[in-house]
Amino acid sequence: MISITIKKATKKAHLDLEKKVIRQLKAIRNEQDYADFLSYFYAYFSHLEKALGPFIDESSIPYYNERRNATYLKRDLETIGYENGSLPGTVVPDIHNHLEALGALYVMEGSVMGGKIIVKILEKQGITRGVSFFSGYGEHTEKKWTAFTKAMDEQVTGEAQKATVIRAANETFACFAKVFDHGNKILQE
Ligand code: HEM
Repeated sequence: MISITIKKATKKAHLDLEKKVIRQLKAIRNEQDYADFLSYFYAYFSHLEKALGPFIDESSIPYYNERRNATYLKRDLETIGYENGSLPGTVVPDIHNHLEALGALYVMEGSVMGGKIIVKILEKQGITRGVSFFSGYGEHTEKKWTAFTKAMDEQVTGEAQKATVIRAANETFACFAKVFDHGNKILQE
C-alpha cells in the first residue's frame, strides 16, 4: 500500500526538512520572528495549492474543501498583525496530473502531525496567538489522516503509479526545505 511505502521512502526528506524547521523555530524570540516563520509556510503552501488545485477536488479527496489550508496561515499573520510583510520566493514541483498532486497533498496533510509539536515549542517560547494553522484538525486529526491515506491507497495502484507519487512527495519536501535556506527575503508578486 502506498500509505505504508511512502512514509519510508520520504523519511530522509522529512528529516531534512524537520531539522531546518526546528532550527528556525527555536530561534523565534518574538511575534516578528514568528511572522517570518509563518510567511515561509504561507508562501510555499499557497504556491503549492495553486499548482495542485487543477488536479484534485472533493470528489477524489474527502474533506478537500474543508482542509486546513494556506488561508489559515494568512489569518494567523493577520492575527499577529503582520499581514502585509514580504514573502520569500518559492519554487514548487511541477505538477501535471492527479498522482503528482496526491504526492504534494500527502506532504501538506501529513504536516498536520508535526504541527502539534510546533505549537508546543511555540508555547514554550511565549507564542500563543496566531497558531490556527499549526493546530491543524485538533481531535479530528487521526480520523482525517485515515480518510486521506485510505483515498490515496484506493487511487494509487501499481509500482509505476506509486513511484510517481513518491517522487512528487520527495520533491515537495525538498522544495520546501530550500525555502528555509534563503536568508534574505525577497518580495513575491
Ligand atoms: C517541527 C517540525 C516537524 C516535526 C517535529 C514533525 C514530526 C512528525 C511526526 C512525529 C510524525 C509522525 C506522526 C505519526 O506517525 O503519528 C510526522 C508525520 C509527518 N510529517 Fe512531520 N514533522 C515536522 C514538520 C513537518 C513538515 C513541515 C512537513 C511538511 C510540510 C511534515 C510532513 C509530514 C508527513 C507527510 C507526515 C506523515 C508521515 C506518514 O505517516 O506517512 N512534517 N511528522
